[in-house]
Amino acid sequence: MKNKNTYILAIESSCDDTACAILNNNTVLSNHVAGQNIHKQYGGVVPELASRAHQSNIIPVVHEALKAAGITKEQLSAIAFTRGPGLMGSLLVGASFAKSLALSLDIPLIDVHHMHAHILAHFIDNGQEMPTFPFIAMTISGGHTQIVKVNSYDNMVVLGTTQDDAVGEAFDKTGKLLGLGYPAGPLVDKLAQLGNPLAFEFPVPKAPLFNYSFSGFKTAVLYFLQRETQKDPDFIAKNLNDICASVQHTIIKILFKKLEKVVKTTGIKQVAIGGGVSANSGIRAKLVSYNEQGWKTFIPPFEYTTDNAAMIGIVGYFKYLDGNFAGMDISASPRIAM
Ligand code: KG4
Ligand code: ZN
Repeated sequence: MKNKNTYILAIESSCDDTACAILNNNTVLSNHVAGQNIHKQYGGVVPELASRAHQSNIIPVVHEALKAAGITKEQLSAIAFTRGPGLMGSLLVGASFAKSLALSLDIPLIDVHHMHAHILAHFIDNGQEMPTFPFIAMTISGGHTQIVKVNSYDNMVVLGTTQDDAVGEAFDKTGKLLGLGYPAGPLVDKLAQLGNPLAFEFPVPKAPLFNYSFSGFKTAVLYFLQRETQKDPDFIAKNLNDICASVQHTIIKILFKKLEKVVKTTGIKQVAIGGGVSANSGIRAKLVSYNEQGWKTFIPPFEYTTDNAAMIGIVGYFKYLDGNFAGMDISASPRIAM
């Protein structure tokens, strides 16, 4: 099976992006995403609206991906899809579509863990150097914040996780307090680049071992803004760049304190990041700076950081090589262990 030329069609629909990618072995032929602007006006993802939008987006996105890849459905070797974790209504759309397509083409169906995919995105071949096992991965997204020991493609151990909010929520919720749109993470990043990261100091919340906590940080920012705007109603407008830079600086401090601890404890110096928040320019720069201390760091290309189907396809490819297929009775799973 190892030398077989494969074409995997992959579908990702765990949250608010409907995505389809086609991979030829470990290279990406096409990678399409339809985002959902509808959620912006609500300041967050509305699950019911997300699943409806997936329903209308999925067929056009799959068509586009096939067309851009220049192959026909009949050439496909397998269909991979995100089984979870994610929003149930959203996952069901992708899972049902993937099942129907696999069934109609009479080819294998492959279920993929969304967080494995964020990590294994590093194995999509772009001519770059790839990590070797074991390595440490910090997965940072809107729904997750984890430090994972990656022993192999399908053996991952979670060493630390957030006890409350995910780091993406810390960005989005503090950004919301500043009046920035949803998702605020990329905007905070942009404005932070124009500000002074040491202008304001926020506390670093305590959490045991390699775990994280972000809810206290968000509350600290809320109280700080309430206090300052009482004194000066224009405080936010006058200091927006500095607040963003200081918020981002603190989040980076929180993230890397535990990551450093994991590297020290395990002795594993290959460190990768993944997930939407790994698009953050400050986090990327901070990670790279550790190369001077003997770490070997891996950062995915931008298109493979936020939710995408190429990362689902690469896991699909590895599972295909192992003959690790799903039965037609498989169900979407909003909560699923690593
Ligand atoms: O992985 P992802 O696309 O979806 C989930 O699985 O959650 O991550 C989305 C999260 C959002 O919270 C968004 O604000 C954040 O990633 N994000 C960023 C940046 N780009 C996306 N956060 C900080 N800086 C960025 N440049
Ligand atoms: Zn994600």
